[in-house]
Amino acid sequence: MASHHLITLAAIVLQLQLAVVCPAAAGDGTMHHLHFFMHDGYTGPRPTAVLIVNGTGAPLMSGGVRFGDTVVMDDVLTEGPSRASRAVGRSQGTYVTASMEEGRPAMLLSMNVVLTDYPGYTGSTVAVMGRNDVTAAVRELAVVGGTGRFRMARGYVLWKTASWKGKDAVLELDVYLRA
Ligand SMILES: *[C@@H]1O[C@H](CO)[C@@H](O)[C@H](O)[C@H]1NC(C)=O
Repeated sequence: MASHHLITLAAIVLQLQLAVVCPAAAGDGTMHHLHFFMHDGYTGPRPTAVLIVNGTGAPLMSGGVRFGDTVVMDDVLTEGPSRASRAVGRSQGTYVTASMEEGRPAMLLSMNVVLTDYPGYTGSTVAVMGRNDVTAAVRELAVVGGTGRFRMARGYVLWKTASWKGKDAVLELDVYLRA
C-alpha cells in the first residue's frame, strides 16, 4: 500500500512539473528574427528541388513555368549567400504554381524550416505557408506555427531572390516571429 501511495505521489509531482515546465518551453511571446539563405537547386549532381508534377497550358514566363507545376524540395539553408558558407538548416516542403496570370506566376508554398545548427534555435522548426509572387522584389509569406522554441509561433517571412542562374535560385529569407 505504501508503495502504491508513493507511485501516486510521484505521478502528481510529475504532472505538476510538466504543468510548470511546458508553458515556459513554449516561449514567452518575445519576437525573434532569423536570417539565412536558401539554395533552391534543380541542377547539379545532387538536386534538392525536384519537379514532381508537370503543369498544363502555355508557359507563364520564360523558363517555362506552367500552371500546376509542383516541386518538392529539401533545400540547404546557409548563413551567407554562398553555398559553401556554414549550413544552418534545411527547408523541406512543396510549392505549386497556383496562378494563371501570364508573366506573373505565383506559387502556393508550404514548408518546414528545420534548424539543424542555428545558434540558440537548433532543433526547433518553423512552419511557413504563403504566396510566393516570384516577380515581386520582396514577397511576404506567413509563419503559421513552429516547434521547440517556436511552439505556437506566429509571424511572417520577407522573401527575396538573392541570385538566379538558370533554374537554380538563391533566396534570402528574413523570418520575424513571436513565440
Ligand atoms: C515533365 O516534362 C518534361 C518535359 O517534357 C519531362 O522531361 C519530365 O520527365 C516531366 N516530368 C514529370 C514529373 O512528369
